[in-house]
Amino acid sequence: MTDLAERRGMNTSVYQPAEDSGLLAQAVIGRVSGRVLEVGTGSGWVAEQLVRKTDAEVVASDLNPHACEQAAERSAALREEGERGFHVVRGNLVSPFRDDSFDAVAFNPPYLPEDLEAARDDWMEVALTGGKDGREIINPFLDTVGRVLKPGGEVYLLVSSLTGYDEVLARAEENGFGHEVVVQESYPYETLTVLALK
Ligand SMILES: C[S@@+](CC[C@H](N)C(=O)[O-])C[C@H]1O[C@@H](n2cnc3c(N)ncnc32)[C@H](O)[C@@H]1O
Repeated sequence: MTDLAERRGMNTSVYQPAEDSGLLAQAVIGRVSGRVLEVGTGSGWVAEQLVRKTDAEVVASDLNPHACEQAAERSAALREEGERGFHVVRGNLVSPFRDDSFDAVAFNPPYLPEDLEAARDDWMEVALTGGKDGREIINPFLDTVGRVLKPGGEVYLLVSSLTGYDEVLARAEENGFGHEVVVQESYPYETLTVLALK
């Protein structure tokens, strides 16, 4: 694992909110309504921000059962406060969902290029690493997400400079998406961008 991974909570089995989570929430709030899916919700923090700060009906999904459990607890706590809460679904990318079912889909994907020497075989590895080039989760996401979008729907994807920005854009274009940069922030070790794809 890299230092970057260490900074991102590798000692837990669920990814905890970091600067990338905050940037995704910042980009999406104020732009979405209707039915919104957050893929790879982790702790459910972004989904919670969407419930609190938009009028969207929020669905959150993750492959990691521990993440689903933590997100469901967060949703239950929101409901106890009298907020709307959000639905949690376990599954791979958008495969659990019907065609044309969301107005927007947001994803902060695992994107670090794999460090083979330090590779771990656990849920934190699943949260952080996107295979050899960092795009092994992003590519199938871009290839399949269009199916679950309603006509006119938008995708919000967080992209790191470590992942290959131009390659991600090329894959989005291959799948028929145009793009807009919603927000971009530079950090000492990477630049993070949230793209709106339509
Ligand atoms: C970088 S973390 C982001 C977590 C959270 N959304 C946030 O911003 O704090 C990536 C998340 O994607 C999930 N994930 C990885 N591969 C996935 C897949 N194929 N389908 C669904 N979720 C996946 C991981 O379990 C992890 O929770």
